[in-house]
Amino acid sequence: MSTLWHGRFGDEPAEELLAYTASVGFDVRLAPDDIAGSRAHVQMLHRVGLLTADEHDAVAAALDRTETELASGEFVFAPTDEDVHTAVERRVTELAGEAGAKLHTGRSRNDQVALDLRLFVKRALTETARDVIGLQRVLLDRAQAAGDAYLPGYTHLQRAQPVLLAHQLLAHGWALARDVDRMADARARADVCPLGAGALAGSSLPLDPDHTAATLGFAARFENSLDAVSDRDFVAEALFALALTAVHLSRLGEEIVFWTSDEVGFATLDDAYATGSSMLPQKKNPDVAELARAKSGRVIGHLTGLLATLKGLPLAYNRDLQEDKEPLFDSVDQVRLGLRAVTGLMATIEFHPEALAAAADAPTMAATDLAEHLVAGGMAFREAHAVVGDLVRRSLAGEAPLAELVQADPRLGEEAAGLLDSGVPVTRRTTPGGAGPAPVAAQIERFGARLGADADRFSHDMVRVA
Ligand code: ARG
Repeated sequence: MSTLWHGRFGDEPAEELLAYTASVGFDVRLAPDDIAGSRAHVQMLHRVGLLTADEHDAVAAALDRTETELASGEFVFAPTDEDVHTAVERRVTELAGEAGAKLHTGRSRNDQVALDLRLFVKRALTETARDVIGLQRVLLDRAQAAGDAYLPGYTHLQRAQPVLLAHQLLAHGWALARDVDRMADARARADVCPLGAGALAGSSLPLDPDHTAATLGFAARFENSLDAVSDRDFVAEALFALALTAVHLSRLGEEIVFWTSDEVGFATLDDAYATGSSMLPQKKNPDVAELARAKSGRVIGHLTGLLATLKGLPLAYNRDLQEDKEPLFDSVDQVRLGLRAVTGLMATIEFHPEALAAAADAPTMAATDLAEHLVAGGMAFREAHAVVGDLVRRSLAGEAPLAELVQADPRLGEEAAGLLDSGVPVTRRTTPGGAGPAPVAAQIERFGARLGADADRFSHDMVRVA
């Protein structure tokens, strides 16, 4: 058995050690990034005179072949392939002979794994942001199609004031817009190439880190080799961006559960996005929405887990850092799956405008409009609040319907009673960014423009394959 470090050791590694320390079972997912990084590295080695043209070509051909074998599944892993870097280098050396043994010149797995992970994070954030934008597009479509449908807006889950359905849907859309922003920001900080940092201190060889950084499409190279190999901030930031996206999916999921409950009956799920019960034939369950709610817990756990792993690590590389990958991969997978499922659900859910309106048409939902009517006539708001509050209390106590009390009150009267008519209160919300028809029409425009600009930001892959 031959490990990468066998020269220094007399005995073979214990099986238990290999079983405990190996990461190839999951980091094989970094194979495309590992190969891209190796291509850029050998190009640089050739450029600075550390590899002849023939050696470069032999290693490059071996990398191509290794890539094909890995992609097709014919790659045969050896028991000593503890991680993807070891496996690739071992195979390249088998294929390219002596030239292959030069692949690792001036490089350590410490800078190599940091590079692979940065390439992965840049790609994963790009793809995830595109998925977020896909969900935002559906929310925009549904908002545009919602017309003047309105529902109760809630505080404390108590009916508060009516809002347009479009407004409610776009509230989730704007939260997702901040997620897209965070992904762009996290991606920019991941966009620094660590290759050339070596194990921790750089090298005595004439390496050119700027060259490898440029070849791989990075915006910059590392400034400090110790930082380059020990920094996993970019993973933590990606996990935070993903965790908050998961929280947003969870909050939307909770609304979907509420809207589709028998208690409120605001919406019905499409059959393709609902599940049945194994025992109760009548059931149609919102499992997608519930899992969107639940999986946020798992993704939050990955973020806190990684922060705990990083806390207290001395500079520079420590094997602890190998524990960065599984939380990252799982968070990316779960958030992307969730985004796609919720996108499909939201594209097909059927809202019931009559049920929405019926819930929003209780006369008390116009209480604030009555108070504002008094304010428009010159009364101080605190006084107006008390006047209307008194009418509401008397009405709830059974004295008379609110509309009658309003009409009979000399401070309010006929015109004010008109504010209680169905569908009127929502039209009174005129503040820019507010829940009524005029500001929502403007909001739809602004949201669409923002969406187009965000789609442009993520139209480039930001990863160049050498
Ligand atoms: N599999 C390791 C990781 O994921 C690669 C780096 C190992 N380096 C080392 N010196 N043991 O972090």
